[in-house]
Amino acid sequence: MRFQNKIVLVLGGNSGMGLAAARMFAAEGGTVHLTGRDRATIDAAVASIPGATGYQSDIADPAATEAVVAAIEARDGRIDVLYINAGVGGFAPLRQITEEAWDHTHAINLRGCVFALQKALRIMGRGGSVVVTGSIGAHGALEGNGTYAAAKAGLYMAMKVFAKELVGEGIRVNVVSPGPIETPLLYRNPGMTEDQVAGLREMMVANIPMHRMGEADDVAKAVLFLASDDASFITAANLFVDGGLIELG
Ligand SMILES: NC(=O)c1ccc[n+]([C@@H]2O[C@H](COP(=O)([O-])OP(=O)(O)OC[C@H]3O[C@@H](n4cnc5c(N)ncnc54)[C@H](OP(=O)(O)O)[C@@H]3O)[C@@H](O)[C@H]2O)c1
Repeated sequence: MRFQNKIVLVLGGNSGMGLAAARMFAAEGGTVHLTGRDRATIDAAVASIPGATGYQSDIADPAATEAVVAAIEARDGRIDVLYINAGVGGFAPLRQITEEAWDHTHAINLRGCVFALQKALRIMGRGGSVVVTGSIGAHGALEGNGTYAAAKAGLYMAMKVFAKELVGEGIRVNVVSPGPIETPLLYRNPGMTEDQVAGLREMMVANIPMHRMGEADDVAKAVLFLASDDASFITAANLFVDGGLIELG
């Protein structure tokens, strides 16, 4: 029960690894608030997580995040644990990258995540913990991943800087960098056919030293560790959850 009496906000908590983490936070005593864009999956998540509250909120809009923070402040007074997980994928080689796709991805995966931290920080204090979902994409070159990799690399470096700014305030900031994880994200790639996704999946499994895709729970367990007091001497860490892909691949 590492999150007893803790107020937890999971941004992007209605699907995939965010949903897995939201479930685990609640199972360990946390009061969970979660966001997403899709009403139906937000409602389903809230219905399956005891005591959870859901908000339909686009992370690309800092004012929408501020409204979520204000609602949490009114109800629970503070945020102890912030998991910034919202993100979108999308592949395109350089010649096919559009300005719209670049701006869309960066508005969510980088700009939105940074301002989400800024907004939530208003009601976070000493002992607070922030975990951010990065990606192995920020640490290795995969053809077609330029837009996404640049956003996640920017996010990784920004969070490292913020960890330094916040260490004196007693707030820890850590990044989890998943490898290929079996979540709905893989099937939401706008530029890819089903066959291409299957091919990509096969190629990824062949390259992962553990020869399997990760599960949402694999990532959630790492997130809970970094968010908890078990990691009280850890800040600015980047934890790969990738079956050894980056370090051994
Ligand atoms: N799966 C992988 O292999 C993998 C690998 C490395 C990193 N990641 C990262 O892991 C994170 C979670 O992804 P996932 O794999 O669990 O996929 P997912 O099931 O598609 O989950 C993505 C989550 O982000 C939310 N989200 C997306 N855009 C949003 C927006 N504009 N505003 C608010 N919420 C938004 C989604 O909510 P809605 O469904 O309501 O939009 C959903 O809760 C992402 O940051 C992703 O980049 C994934």
